[in-house]
Amino acid sequence: MSLKVSKYAASIAALLMLSAIANGQKPESEPFGKTKDGTAVEVYTLKSSKGLVAKIMTRGATLTELHLPDKDGTIADCILGWDDVAGYESEDNQYFGCTTGRVCNRIAKGKFTLDGKEYTLAINNDLNHLHGGVEKSLDKVVWTAKTWGGEKASGVTFTYKSPDGEEGYPGNLTVSVTYSVPRDKNNLSISYKATTDQATPVNLTNHAYFNLSGAGSKTVLNHALLVNAESYTPNDETLIPTGKIESVEGTDLDFRKFTRIAKRVKNFDEKPEIGYDHNFVLKPKPEGKKMVFAAALRDAKSGRQMRIMTSEPGIQFYSGNFLKGQVGKDGKTYAHRSALCLETQHFPDSINHENFPTTVLKPGEEFTSQSVYQFSTFVPRKNAGKAKGKKSESKNDEK
Ligand code: GLA
Repeated sequence: MSLKVSKYAASIAALLMLSAIANGQKPESEPFGKTKDGTAVEVYTLKSSKGLVAKIMTRGATLTELHLPDKDGTIADCILGWDDVAGYESEDNQYFGCTTGRVCNRIAKGKFTLDGKEYTLAINNDLNHLHGGVEKSLDKVVWTAKTWGGEKASGVTFTYKSPDGEEGYPGNLTVSVTYSVPRDKNNLSISYKATTDQATPVNLTNHAYFNLSGAGSKTVLNHALLVNAESYTPNDETLIPTGKIESVEGTDLDFRKFTRIAKRVKNFDEKPEIGYDHNFVLKPKPEGKKMVFAAALRDAKSGRQMRIMTSEPGIQFYSGNFLKGQVGKDGKTYAHRSALCLETQHFPDSINHENFPTTVLKPGEEFTSQSVYQFSTFVPRKNAGKAKGKKSESKNDEK
């Protein structure tokens, strides 16, 4: 009898397990601590079956960890961050992994005019407004989270309602960001939605700092980058676009073929950007497609590589020029140019440039944006002969 009961129990358990797999499991959450004002912060974990583990917390809908296998299957966390909320609240945090907005990057002199009314925002970067403001920019507020799990993917959607006038921006803005990971691929998708009750500028990105050798590795200069852009938006001396769109041909911004970052970054040492800090104009989306291939990054040391697809018209390549040796997760030091950002976006300061694709969201419209970060490994050239069954990438290889 007892044998019968346990057989019965075992088959019920097996059935439950099968149905959990079929329905997909929702991401799990755990407490991550509290903000200075006492608000509880949760962190959610997304996993693929191929080794990717992403953690995202409710403060700033921020990607706090991104673990990826290297060419030998060794896992490392490849983005910068902090072990606790206090780290993220500290002055050393330069937007690590956060959702950036309401308008990412710069707005000249913190001013814009919309429907005949002039708006003034906080000046927090030289003469300009940067990354949505000071106290209640989207990276600093705590979002609410809702998880879901499907057969093929699971994810978490963070929502925040930004009241009219917050950080000086017009309109009550409801904004959501969904992070999702498919079960069988090392892809991380980040998609955004926003609605408003008054016309208002919106430009959202994720500000993850990548080092594919693992966060805290000495430099990112040996990574090779490819950007699918024929042109870029030149900056003035305060890093505001002049409004021109210029060809990358013959410039140090030509990344149409894989190029080691070290090769030309020094040419910017004396420029206002003090390194790469430029917006590239991506090639248009192929007909009928929602996204375009934006950029690819390769690290020969680990064999990790990343491809970025996006629905956005631009991407900011920032080579970690302001990193200053702050100590982050696991006591690791984040030296100058030890990580880089590839921020999919509308062009900086679009609200003040009529020739740029518009960032104005109107009542009744829905803002949408999606970027997918695809991770895989490759066999670096010098080892290519040794490895069996793995393809060496020679196409578009480093210059
Ligand atoms: C963006 C900007 C940079 C810098 C970083 C944060 O990438 O373009 O100039 O402000 O954010 O430090």
